[in-house]
Parts: sequence; C-alpha cells; structure tokens
Amino acid sequence: MNHQILTKENIFPALSNESFTFFENFYYFNSIESTNTAAKQIIKDNPGKNSIIIAKTQTNGRGRLSRQWYSPPGGLYISYVIKASSNQNKMTLLPLLCANSIHHFLQSIAIDSQIKWPNDILVNSKKIAGILIENIFDTKQQKYFICGIGINVNNHSTDLPKDVLYPSTSIIEEIHKNSDIIESIIKLTHFFEKQYSLFEQNQMNKIIEIWKNASNTLGKNVTIQQKNKTIHGKAIDVDEDGFLIVKTKSNNYQKITSGDCYY
Ligand code: BTN
Repeated sequence: MNHQILTKENIFPALSNESFTFFENFYYFNSIESTNTAAKQIIKDNPGKNSIIIAKTQTNGRGRLSRQWYSPPGGLYISYVIKASSNQNKMTLLPLLCANSIHHFLQSIAIDSQIKWPNDILVNSKKIAGILIENIFDTKQQKYFICGIGINVNNHSTDLPKDVLYPSTSIIEEIHKNSDIIESIIKLTHFFEKQYSLFEQNQMNKIIEIWKNASNTLGKNVTIQQKNKTIHGKAIDVDEDGFLIVKTKSNNYQKITSGDCYY
C-alpha cells in the first residue's frame, strides 16, 4: 500500500474529495499548540461554520482534567467543530459518541478496543486514544461543540510519557504496520458523522447501546476519584445523559458525572 504523507498538499484534496454531511471547512497545521485551542480562535475569526482542524504535531495538546496530551508526529490529532442545534441539550453524550466512533474505526482495522468510562479507549488495558470535549459561544450566542480526538497511530508508546492511569499503546504496536494517517482521518470522520447523525436525530438510546456494548466498565467494581471525593462501588449502568450509575456497599445509587475511574 502506498502511504500518503500528511502534508497540506495531500490532506486538502483528500478531504475535499469526500462527501461529508456536516463538514466543509478544513484546517491543517504542521505544528500547533492544540487543535482544540485553534478551534476556539477559528470560531471567533470565522463564525457560523462547521470545521475540521488537523495537526501533524501539537506543542501543548490538552487532555481531560487539565492533563497534557503528548503529541509527537505519527499520531492523529483532530478537532471537529460543530454548530449546536438550538434544541440540542444532551452535550454530555458527546464523549460517548466520540468513543463509539473511535471504537468503530479501530474495529474497521481489526483492532478490538474497549471503552472505559467516561471516554478512554483501551486495547488490552492500554490506552490508545483520548477525547476532549469543549464548547464555546460566538458573539451571536451560537453554541459550538469542539470534539477533540487524539489517537496513537504510527507513534510508539515508548515515545510517550507513562500515563498516570495506564500504559499506552498505538495502532502500529497492535497491527505491526504503518497506517495511512489521511485514510485514517477520513474513516474516523465518516464514523463520527454516523454517530453525530444519531445525536442530531435524538436517537440517544442507540448511542448509549453502542457505548454499552463496547464498554468494559459495567459490572465492574470501580473506584471513582473526584477532586475531593472517592467513591467505591459496582458500576451498574449509564443513564440517558451518559452518567455512570454506581451502587455503593451501602446500597446507595450514585450518579457519577465526572472523575477518574479505576478497576
Ligand atoms: C484525554 O484522554 O485526556 C483526552 C486527550 C485528547 C487529545 C486530543 S488531540 C486533539 C485535541 N486537541 C487537544 O489539545 N486535545 C485533543
């Protein structure tokens, strides 16, 4: 297979050739602080559009809970910017639909991944991808979702710092061959669009069902670490908002909206 190199000369024609439902604006950077941070500036400078922002490397890639996302060349760093519809108030499902998209993308290249609540993508207990969802309003009070996705593709886990929660892996380490990043971006975007269409059509139960089937959190005894609180119990369900329901030893049902989950 002839792998395309990720350059602006290659990426723009490849994306323009695709027929995407939601996206028509594309941005590419060789190196940028963070595609999510760039997204915020792009919304300010050029409001009213849905965009895809891609970088070859990030100098200050951001993760959940103010962590860093180390972003060497060879990884896939992308932010989807979408104007929220006025009736769209289920933003808490965005991490789940992004996780489903990554899970389907990995499945399409024969990698079996699991989703760990809320949105870590693991392969054999090693982290292969992460998701950072943000939102912002433009000057006309139009809301935008920024769905940032980072996937370890052709970069090696030895080049990454050890994650505090679990070791890392990458696609190349799982399938032992280089992947075409441009092709990966296109595939991932199609899977993302399928999931986002379900979201737009209010088919939240379908998103949750796919997430549940791909998740390995439910049924496990978990420890939830929040800023000032630790909760122990059994993860029994996710509710219609994507929140984790944990049954504690004292038979209390707790709705978990954020935090780190260990098991
Ligand atoms: C996490 O697991 O903590 C989330 C990592 C999210 C990383 C992606 S890479 C593209 C986008 N830009 C960023 O700065 N972060 C997200």
